[in-house]
Amino acid sequence: MTQTAPILRPLNDACDASALKSLYTESTGPGLSFLTNFLTQPTCHAWSLWREDVVVGAVWFQRVEDAAEILDLCVLASCRRRGYGRQLLEASLQALAPVTRVDLEVRASNEAALGLYSALGFCETGRRPHYYVTQGGREDAILMTWTPDQA
Ligand SMILES: CC(C)(COP(=O)(O)OP(=O)(O)OC[C@H]1O[C@@H](n2cnc3c(N)ncnc32)[C@H](O)[C@@H]1OP(=O)(O)O)[C@@H](O)C(=O)NCCC(=O)NCCS
Repeated sequence: MTQTAPILRPLNDACDASALKSLYTESTGPGLSFLTNFLTQPTCHAWSLWREDVVVGAVWFQRVEDAAEILDLCVLASCRRRGYGRQLLEASLQALAPVTRVDLEVRASNEAALGLYSALGFCETGRRPHYYVTQGGREDAILMTWTPDQA
């Protein structure tokens, strides 16, 4: 049986965001209530990715003029390493276009996110030493930037 391709859907309001609870059960990034409030800002651009009737991921950008920043990206824990993060990010960058740059920051220990961002052409542009609190102390934030010509 052939699987239908995942579908990208824009997130417009709190009702759309309420469908994302299954994604936000961990507490390493911004929580769903923070992100839902952020949807009321005109600078917020967000999308979810659906496979049939299951939400498998969501991504949230802040966009000011032609520059954007990724506030959060999350794939359903049980569906990781199946290409959904890549599909979601590629499709949302296309939907966000035209932008001249997209910035983000990520924990230095987050190998999955670092691997995904590097695979999509994001380059390390800086570091904030000891930026994040961890259970055992602190860790660096890595700053990364994507530009359309790097894609
Ligand atoms: C980071 C995250 C979004 C990746 O989503 P995903 O759907 O599992 O990623 P994909 O399957 O599309 O992987 C694409 C590429 O990213 C890299 N990657 C993904 N997971 C990885 C891992 N655990 N270790 C190393 N590289 C990894 C690989 O290069 C992979 O390509 P490959 O499978 O051909 O080797 C997901 O792990 C997640 O939601 N993590 C928790 C939230 C989070 O940390 N968000 C980032 C905040 S900055």
